[in-house]
Amino acid sequence: MAVANAGPLTPHAVMTDAPVIPVIVLSDLAHAVPLARALVAGGIRMLEVTLRTPVALACIEAIAREVAEAVAGAGTVRSAADAQAAAMAGARFAVSPGYTHAVGKACHELGLPLLPGVATGGEIMAAQEDGYTELKFFPALQAGGLAMLKAWQGPFGDVKFCPTGGITAANAAEFLALANVVCVGGSWLTPADAIAQGDWARITQLAREATALKG
Ligand code: 3PG
Repeated sequence: MAVANAGPLTPHAVMTDAPVIPVIVLSDLAHAVPLARALVAGGIRMLEVTLRTPVALACIEAIAREVAEAVAGAGTVRSAADAQAAAMAGARFAVSPGYTHAVGKACHELGLPLLPGVATGGEIMAAQEDGYTELKFFPALQAGGLAMLKAWQGPFGDVKFCPTGGITAANAAEFLALANVVCVGGSWLTPADAIAQGDWARITQLAREATALKG
């Protein structure tokens, strides 16, 4: 596919490929490839594999190697070392739960598109200072939800967000309707029980429903 195989990605390309970026937690390497294929079959190619489990990097590596249509990214990137390890594993983008200049600098140096996590005006300003204007709003629901995003449209009108945290099939559309929201992130496309049972058809169906959301 064009985005998967074309040259360097931009944060914009990561955010606009589909209305939802799935936040994936994998504890078994054997699940990585079939899960990625199931999401791709439903139209979701940008996959955020969180660095929260011992097999996360191996999962990114497997997806990058075996699922050409997918674009494996790393989530929960909290340090320069995480960014480095993610890039080495073949991650094509990174997502962080908060923002530090160290993570921003490391991703710039690695040429790794980063969606930095922010929850306050100060964090937005710090990310902007380092050239980041496409940001993850995390944890979206807990940190102010729709009202916060609307408030940010004034002072941060040039910033685009991917709200993540508490977003579901039921409330995603309200977020996607905001002018400063490009896509949303969430774990609802990859329920732990569906992964454990190898219920890939259910995951493809959830992905299909997500791609049908208005982005
Ligand atoms: C996370 O970090 O786990 C993500 O933000 C997902 O949050 P969610 O489970 O509320 O979608």
